[in-house]
Amino acid sequence: MWEYTDKVKDHFFNPRNVGEIEDADGVGEVGSLACGDALKLTFKLDKNGKIKDARFKTFGCASAIATSSVLTEMIKGMTIEEAAKVTNKDIADYLGGLPEQKMHCSVMGREALEAAIENYRTGGKKKHQLEGKVVCTCFGVTENEIERVIRENNLMTVEEVTNYCKAGGGCGSCKAEIGKIIERVQGEKRKETAMTIPVKGRKLTNIQKIQLIQQTINEQIRPALRAHGGNIELIDVEGNKVIVAFRGMCAQCKMADFTMKDVVEAKLREFVADGLYVEEDSDSALEPHNHRE
Ligand code: FES
Repeated sequence: MWEYTDKVKDHFFNPRNVGEIEDADGVGEVGSLACGDALKLTFKLDKNGKIKDARFKTFGCASAIATSSVLTEMIKGMTIEEAAKVTNKDIADYLGGLPEQKMHCSVMGREALEAAIENYRTGGKKKHQLEGKVVCTCFGVTENEIERVIRENNLMTVEEVTNYCKAGGGCGSCKAEIGKIIERVQGEKRKETAMTIPVKGRKLTNIQKIQLIQQTINEQIRPALRAHGGNIELIDVEGNKVIVAFRGMCAQCKMADFTMKDVVEAKLREFVADGLYVEEDSDSALEPHNHRE
């Protein structure tokens, strides 16, 4: 049984804006009944170029209905430029979150919106088409789409990719190729991050220091921990002391002390400041499920 937020339940039991606008300005259709999920989104603009009405028809699970419903609510009042910036994460956040295994519904919502905007911008001529090589033939997912969900959601495992776009969730024969795409995209991201992270050694204000610690955790430390089912949260910074809490597999791992010093502390010293040292949050360490004997 999935854990759904109250907002997901509300939009599932009372979906808003169900149907289709007859003389729509934009029409987006994605998915297919054969793959288990399909969504048709239509919108109409007012004279100022803002979306005044949006409607949907969907075939899918509770999350597909809730994400489609909330998407129509979100985009009403937006200009096309604003609607074009809506991400799958925005849709999931608006619902107060979705179960990981259902994130593909938020991706389907974003795809339908993009298809409808493209249809509008081309004067109704262009219909949504798959771009790039199809990697997962079971669900018709292309390399471009897989690369995009990895990049936008910082996905590290094939299982996560399946959750976000279904690729790999059928016969499984595409899993090795998905794994290679993850490696390539994450490698490119690491290089980009290395180029954007500020050079250590400059004088930082307290706020800049905390922001840089958070950025280093997000970009340099968390991806490595998530690859093994773990996670980390920044709790506080007191002078040179950085207080963190391990989550997931890291919270039960016998090697946690090693990870704390040789990964977390080492990375923070490398990217932020030499004098930093790391301590585990005492409250988290005392939680019964976090014991590591
Ligand atoms: S080809 Fe991707 S799961 Fe079958």
